Amino acid sequence: MPVGGRHAAGLYVHLPFCATRCAYCTFVTSTELETMPRALAAAAREVERLGRPAGRPLASVYLGGGTPSLVAAELLEGLFGALRTSFTLRDRCEVTLEANPDDVDPARLGLWRRLGVTRVSIGVQAFHDRILRLLNRRHDAAAARRAVELVLAAGFVVSLDLMLGLPGMSAGELAASLAETVRLRPHHVSVYLLEMDKPHALVRLAERRPDLFPDADAAAAQYLATGRALVGAGFRHYEISNYALPGCEARHNLRYWLGQPVLAAGVGAHGQAGRRRWANTAELPAYLAAVEAGEAPVAWSRSLSEDEARRERVMLGLRLARGVASEELHACAASAPEFGARLEEFLSLSLARERRGTVRLTPRGWLVSNELLAALW
Ligand SMILES: C[S@@+](CC[C@H](N)C(=O)[O-])C[C@H]1O[C@@H](n2cnc3c(N)ncnc32)[C@H](O)[C@@H]1O
Ligand code: SF4
Repeated sequence: MPVGGRHAAGLYVHLPFCATRCAYCTFVTSTELETMPRALAAAAREVERLGRPAGRPLASVYLGGGTPSLVAAELLEGLFGALRTSFTLRDRCEVTLEANPDDVDPARLGLWRRLGVTRVSIGVQAFHDRILRLLNRRHDAAAARRAVELVLAAGFVVSLDLMLGLPGMSAGELAASLAETVRLRPHHVSVYLLEMDKPHALVRLAERRPDLFPDADAAAAQYLATGRALVGAGFRHYEISNYALPGCEARHNLRYWLGQPVLAAGVGAHGQAGRRRWANTAELPAYLAAVEAGEAPVAWSRSLSEDEARRERVMLGLRLARGVASEELHACAASAPEFGARLEEFLSLSLARERRGTVRLTPRGWLVSNELLAALW
């Protein structure tokens, strides 16, 4: 999908392979590792197509998954070869690779460094073996700790993923996971509340054993306790689910929240440019067949209307601590009166604050932001 002009874009590449499937995951993933060479060749081919005319500048690259850290050296080298011949990576281009703790070793770290990776995002989830087993993670807490230490020592910017709302996690265990996170001192922490709206093994477990899961109040308490622990340790809560040491915000992820152009390659990858949104097919066989036939593997593509674009800007902007210009919100309220009424309620309950022409949600407001944002659509 063309992105106009020579302004730097971001590039997301989805590498869907995982050694095993985690109990909570609904991402586009595959455990058929024998398909990896074909899928990497297809992603490289797409990257070459997206880069035309050659030399288009990139401000960020994000290899997400799936588990990009699982990809063999020669396959990753092929992908980076395509990237470097097709695009110009700007100075200070952020190049993130998602990693499972089990894959982190000195040889892989050396490879990633040579290829130009600058940032490693490590899926930790929790620092308790019993919980990690329940999640069907393939690493234990010691491996997670070792991985974070190794990646930090190798000089990468490090982001760490944690999850909240997990079955069987006590307030004390969460506090211990947060203390361990603060002790390790990564540059960035993403904290995701377990999503239960799509089918996965933990949804089935919750049907049989609801007693294992925190109720809404307990999950809310976990979210607020996380904020207190990380902000108290010097992290900035800059987005509803993300914390960073000053200056270490995820630049690629910010592109989505700020509506800046992001190209997309790989099965199920989503892209955006101006008002255009599109997605590649999420079916691996269909994706491979399209790319190998020289066709774009795009499943759908559409342009947002001006009103939709504004609502999207408001929805994403309210996820950010920097907030949204009051006039944008008033324009939304004019076309969605229910949203205007909810926003007034949020302001009067101090779930949102308005200062110098900008509205921001507070952490308590973020917790219940679905109630506000549902009124936008
Ligand atoms: C693609 S994975 C990260 C890299 C690697 N695949 C791993 O898991 O180690 C992205 C992150 O999304 C989060 N996640 C996945 N499924 C989720 C769900 N159902 N609810 C909340 N967070 C989820 C996890 O924290 C996970 O680390
Ligand atoms: S959470 Fe990560 S490792 Fe687990 S199945 Fe999903 S993408 Fe794969």
